[in-house]
Order: sequence, then C-alpha cells, then structure tokens
Amino acid sequence: MSPAPPPDTAPVIFVDDEEDLRRAAEQTFSLAELPLLPCATAQEALAHVTPAFPGVIVTDIRMPGMDGTELMEAVLSRDPDMPVILVTGHGDVDLAVSSMQRGAYDFVEKPYNPARLVETVRRALEKRHLTMELRALTAGASEGGDDPIANRLIGRSAVMARLRADLRAVAATHADVLIEGATGTGKEVAARALHAASARAARPFVAINCAALPDAMIESELFGHAPGAFPGATRERYGKFEHARGGTLFLDQIDSLPLPVQGKLLTALQDRAITPLGSNEPVALDLRVVAASKRALAEAVAEGSFRDDLLYRLNVFTLRLPPLSARREDIPGLYQILLAKASAQHGRPVPRVTTDDLARLAARDWPGNVRELRNEAERAILGLDRSDLPQPTGRLSDRMAEHERGLIAAALAANSGVIKATYEALGISRKALYEKMQKHGLDRQAFRSD
Ligand SMILES: Nc1ncnc2c1ncn2[C@@H]1O[C@H](COP(=O)(O)OP(=O)(O)OP(=O)(O)O)[C@@H](O)[C@H]1O
Ligand SMILES: [Mg+2]
Repeated sequence: MSPAPPPDTAPVIFVDDEEDLRRAAEQTFSLAELPLLPCATAQEALAHVTPAFPGVIVTDIRMPGMDGTELMEAVLSRDPDMPVILVTGHGDVDLAVSSMQRGAYDFVEKPYNPARLVETVRRALEKRHLTMELRALTAGASEGGDDPIANRLIGRSAVMARLRADLRAVAATHADVLIEGATGTGKEVAARALHAASARAARPFVAINCAALPDAMIESELFGHAPGAFPGATRERYGKFEHARGGTLFLDQIDSLPLPVQGKLLTALQDRAITPLGSNEPVALDLRVVAASKRALAEAVAEGSFRDDLLYRLNVFTLRLPPLSARREDIPGLYQILLAKASAQHGRPVPRVTTDDLARLAARDWPGNVRELRNEAERAILGLDRSDLPQPTGRLSDRMAEHERGLIAAALAANSGVIKATYEALGISRKALYEKMQKHGLDRQAFRSD
C-alpha cells in the first residue's frame, strides 16, 4: 500500500480539441505549479484513467468524436469518485446543471478566468487526495481479508505495523501477555484482537477490571468460591478464570491488584490451576491471561506495590501501545475512519473535512489518545461544537451562512443527495441550490445513500 501523493503533485488531465487552449492551459497550470497532462481527444484522456489515478480531469464539452459529457460518464463508470470538471460554452447553463446532476464535480464557463479554474482544480485535487487516502486506509484495514488484527488496530505508522506483527506472532502461541499503554491507546482493542486471531477465538473472552472491584471481593471474583467459603457464600460460585475456560482472560488495570491476590495469581499462572476459595480441589486451567496496565509495571515494582516475580511471569511478551502523539501520521486516516463509523452508527452524513482540518488535528496533543479522537469524530458527526474551534461569536453574516450550510446539508442528507427533492424541500430554485452548495462546499456525492 503506497501513500496517496499530496494534492499538489497529482496530475491534471486537460482535454480540449483546440491546440491554442491546451497551450494556454499548460502555461496557466505551470504557473500554478500543477502538473498537466494535455489531451486532444477523450480517448487519449481515458487511457490515463484508472481507479488508481490520483489526479482530476478538466474537459471541454463540445469536441468532435466522444464529447465531454460522454467522457465524464466513461470516467465515472471506471471510478465514481473521480472529480471531473466540465468546461461549458457561454450560456450553456442547462447543460452544466444536468451534468452536475449526473456526477460532474463542477463546471466553469468559457471564457474562463484562469485563477478561478486553478482554484476549482485545487479543490478537486484535495477531494481526490482525501478519497485516495481513505481508500488506502480501508484497504490497509482489511489487508489479509478478515484478519481481526489488521481490521481493529488501524494505523499506517511503522510502530503500528510492528505492533500488528507482534500481536500475530503472539496469537499463534500459548503465552500469557502484558499490554502497557496510556489511557485510550487501544489496550483492550489489542487484547480482543489477539483473542480473535488465536486458536481460542471460538471460546470466551472474559474481561475484568481489577481497579473496579473492592479488595475484599476480587479474590472470589477471579477464582470463585465453594459453598460456605465465607459468611454469605451459600452456593458454589464460578470465578472469571472458570468462565474464561479455553479462552482468554483479560485482567485490566492489573497494577491495582492487592498484593495477596497477586501471590495467588502467580501460583495460578505457574501451576496452570486455581483453587476456589474455601475449596481444596485445584481446577486445571486452560486459558491465556492477558494483563493490561496504564503505567509501566516496573514502576509499580519499584514502588513496592507490585510483585517482581509476577511481573517476570507476565512480561515474557510485553506489547507497548504508543500514545497517539507518537504516531501523528496515523491521525488523519484514523479520524476519517472514525468519522465514517460514527456516521454509520448515527445515520448522519459525514461533514466536509479539509486537509487543513486534518493537519490541525494531527498537530494536537491528544492526552486521551484514540478514545479522545473517536469522541472528536462523534462530536463532528453530531454537529456539536468542536472544542478547538472558536465559539460562534462571529459576524452575523458568518453565523447565518453557517446556519444556512447546516440546513442545506440536512436537506441533502434527508433526500439522499437527490437534487430535485432537495431544492423542492427547501423551496428554492435548482440554480439557487447549486449556487449555495458551491458556496458552502457541499458535495452531493457525500449524501448519496448507494
Ligand atoms: N489502533 C486503533 N484503531 C482503531 N480504533 C482504536 C485503535 N486504538 C484504539 N481504538 C479505539 O479507541 C477507543 C479506546 O480503546 P481501548 O478501550 O482499547 O483503550 P484502552 O487502552 O483500553 O484505554 P483505558 O486504559 O482507558 O482503558 C476504543 O473506542 C477503540 O475502539
Ligand atoms: Mg481499557
């Protein structure tokens, strides 16, 4: 999987049968430092178009042979997300509008202002770049088909790739595992992925948070008890170890385990057997223990709150999950995937995200790591104010524009991006809707339900 090139290096296919216009475009685009592929015919242009083509297309409509709208249809049948910008003759508004409905990204009227064409092309390149990046990520997320590790632990960074490889290697063994990492870095995700990728996948995954139980209860929660083991223990009760039989037991926040219980856990791990409270009958264990801790257990050992022999028993395999700030290159893609997930979950459209937005997100600190990024994506989907954006105290005109954009986006979403239904619902003309969508950077493709 190779990363999508940044928007400014992807080529622009420019199709016009008139040589003078191709020459002029070459000058315009070379001044703008955008690589151009001039083509005299639609066929010539099509030769470059595959779903892997990272650039965009600008085409004249009226040409001998295959015309611009036919070219557009051929392009969109190869890749429905490819931005095609049509150059229309003066006064061809109807043609422009119907082309937009059939999937054109935008149109410019002849004679066009070069600066305006370049601006439209840059926007289209940005959109193309985001599409390609999202595709690369989703492809990465399903590398190896339904590999549960690749699907759940997303990230293109070298640290994440190494982590996935380590998890796969450990999944194939019987070893117990320690996972260390700050809050929200994905410790539980990693533990569940490890279970799902192991031979124990069909057996239970049982999680227990050692910090959430009172000290007095934790021992019987883990190991169970015999009837009469303590006052109130009228019946036999299975512990988490027995519930997890054959599967994986996830001991979260293991550093909170009281010292006496640590001793009993060590014995259980060494003997691969447990003895329920008030019983003399050891029960054989067939399970994998995965322990997790937010802080380095070595620190807890140094403090005297964690047994060193238990640490050595657990840290044969230690997986360390990096904070999000140590893998910032993963933030844009992860954010887009989390947006797509939240959008599916809440049945809401994905809002427009620019490369600037993504760069700003990637630069932030993220003390809550992936969980905090997921919350940010949820807020964006639900249309709640983002903490890093200025509060809406701007000029009335800006706030009204923002409000208008929201109403139009909602109508587009309600009508699955169908233009006619949307302008009718809003009680405005077709032309007015196109103008407003363009002004607010709304793309009907984002609202389509198919
Ligand atoms: N690499 C990843 N790819 C996709 N989603 C992730 C990744 N890492 C974490 N997440 C998501 O982030 C959230 C937090 O993950 P998780 O609960 O595993 O964190 P944790 O390390 O157990 O945190 P805590 O220590 O606070 O319990 C979850 O919604 C999870 O789905
Ligand atoms: Mg957790």
